[in-house]
Amino acid sequence: MDAVAATQLSKSFGSVTAVDDVSITVPEGEIFGFLGPNGAGKTTTIRMLTGVLIPDAGSVKIFGTDVHDNPLGAKLKMGIIPENGTVYSDLTAVENILLTAKFFGMDKAAREERADEILDRIGLADRRDDLVRTFSKGMRQRISIACAIVHAPPLLILDEPTTGLDVYSRRLVIDTVRRMNREGSTVLLTTHNIEEANALCSVISVIDRGRIVATGSPERLKSTFDTSRYVEIAFEQPVIPGLLLAPGISRAEPWGDKWRVYCDDPDRAVKHLASVAERERLTIVSVATSKPTLEEAFVKLTGGV
Ligand SMILES: Nc1ncnc2c1ncn2[C@@H]1O[C@H](COP(=O)(O)OP(=O)(O)O)[C@@H](O)[C@H]1O
Ligand SMILES: [Mg+2]
Repeated sequence: MDAVAATQLSKSFGSVTAVDDVSITVPEGEIFGFLGPNGAGKTTTIRMLTGVLIPDAGSVKIFGTDVHDNPLGAKLKMGIIPENGTVYSDLTAVENILLTAKFFGMDKAAREERADEILDRIGLADRRDDLVRTFSKGMRQRISIACAIVHAPPLLILDEPTTGLDVYSRRLVIDTVRRMNREGSTVLLTTHNIEEANALCSVISVIDRGRIVATGSPERLKSTFDTSRYVEIAFEQPVIPGLLLAPGISRAEPWGDKWRVYCDDPDRAVKHLASVAERERLTIVSVATSKPTLEEAFVKLTGGV
């Protein structure tokens, strides 16, 4: 059964269409990434998936339970880490976790055992009894995650879980996500960080201006843009771009003090450019080849340069 089946979700705020006909399917066991620039509609989508916001159109099922018809039933299957974590500053670390565990109906012995286990897991065992108001942003985020995973939810939903965190907290958050997945939780997370999506997710949907513009594995998304390989080359002398063209080279553009030569095969292009330089008595100052990156795919998909 799919962990998340969202069909044709739409949501507008006044004249702004924040989410436009978005469908998402996350099979059980996946780490699914929802990647998009700021303002793309990630948080609005997450809020609809988690029953916080009622969509203008569309429906959401979490492990077969309709979020609209049975919000509590659906929520019990989710651990949610919202964009701006919701931890209680006036409670201690352990109190935050115990309170959430109680909300999920865990008995006292289970709550206490689990709270200590999780505090250890997120590296805050030694801060167990300190008020959360004294914590850094990264530590608060770890508490937010601790609360979300206390009931070992089959589905973990995280909205930009690592944005603005220090390196150590970021690593702990990523490790926790991976471990939860290994232990059986399906994960859906949003990010605007391409490298993070690349490193963590098995499937990515790219969202831009409220619409999904591509879905696939990071490798597949990258390979979609295989043709955007290029060679960057600088000559000491001015060059007429037509000189650089050849079969397999689609175009040559000035790029700072260099030329960007777009091609199918960088190896062949470099050999060709070297022969042109030789023939035309040009001095090559620098040369480098590119591999397609997810970043390029992302920039292309989201309408950048
Ligand atoms: N409560 C709201 N009221 C008005 N506009 C909103 C509201 N929430 C989001 N938006 C708008 O919807 C768009 C998508 O926002 P959001 O879902 O927060 O994007 P993301 O999380 O990808 O950065 C933005 O243009 C944002 O300004
Ligand atoms: Mg957001």
